[in-house]
Amino acid sequence: MLSGRGLVKRYGAQYALAGVDIDIRAGEAVAIVGPSGSGKTSLLHVLAGILRADAGEIHLAGQRVDQLGEKKRSELRRTEFGFVFQSGMLVSELSAEENVALPSLLAGKGRKEAVDAGRIWLERLGLKGMETRRPGEMSGGQAQRVAIARALTHQPKVIFADEPTGALDTRTGRETMDALLGAARETGAAVVVVTHDRDIAESMPTTVSIRDGLIASRVAA
Ligand SMILES: Nc1ncnc2c1ncn2[C@@H]1O[C@H](COP(=O)(O)OP(=O)(O)O)[C@@H](O)[C@H]1O
Ligand SMILES: [Mg+2]
Repeated sequence: MLSGRGLVKRYGAQYALAGVDIDIRAGEAVAIVGPSGSGKTSLLHVLAGILRADAGEIHLAGQRVDQLGEKKRSELRRTEFGFVFQSGMLVSELSAEENVALPSLLAGKGRKEAVDAGRIWLERLGLKGMETRRPGEMSGGQAQRVAIARALTHQPKVIFADEPTGALDTRTGRETMDALLGAARETGAAVVVVTHDRDIAESMPTTVSIRDGLIASRVAA
């Protein structure tokens, strides 16, 4: 459904990606693991169209994504993809429900429709009663669940998460991952998660290891 072929990303003489082939099937949950500096974030950003690769192709449901212009790519990111980052990527001045509604509002939905859909996801993620709280008035785990709700409301095909549990304690991290994977399963979204956490990687159905900008292995449980 989403695939990269021969992906190369360079920073000067440094190859962040040195020719990566990767396939993400519809609804699949994939962990990307590897040492610091191995190219995990670069791969995620190239696949998601945030960064442009220096070489290679990206196909999404039969469409050549890498050949799209900036405007089309940003539209694609808004409509087809959802993002969960390590932390701090919620808008601090907005309430939980406003944060969750944001992608739908940007996609042109009406305010009521967007906020109503957002509230449903907040409730599914165990945040009923917290709709009007701002990120600073919640725990790290709760804020990450708001970020997960935000990544899901517009029904993306793929959710990209870069170290989504990196700022959480082990138990909250585990619960946050369960919430993310469970919610993705409900919507049929594929999930691509970069993680340092061995337990989390091992709990995912598929693990792709990256080393020096190359895929070292792909293991399906
Ligand atoms: N904006 C940048 N400018 C220069 N070098 C970068 C930049 N981003 C990443 N790199 C380099 O590319 C390599 C891969 O980085 P990254 O994809 O962030 O790895 P990871 O997420 O696995 O830690 C590293 O050597 C890193 O230093
Ligand atoms: Mg990284």
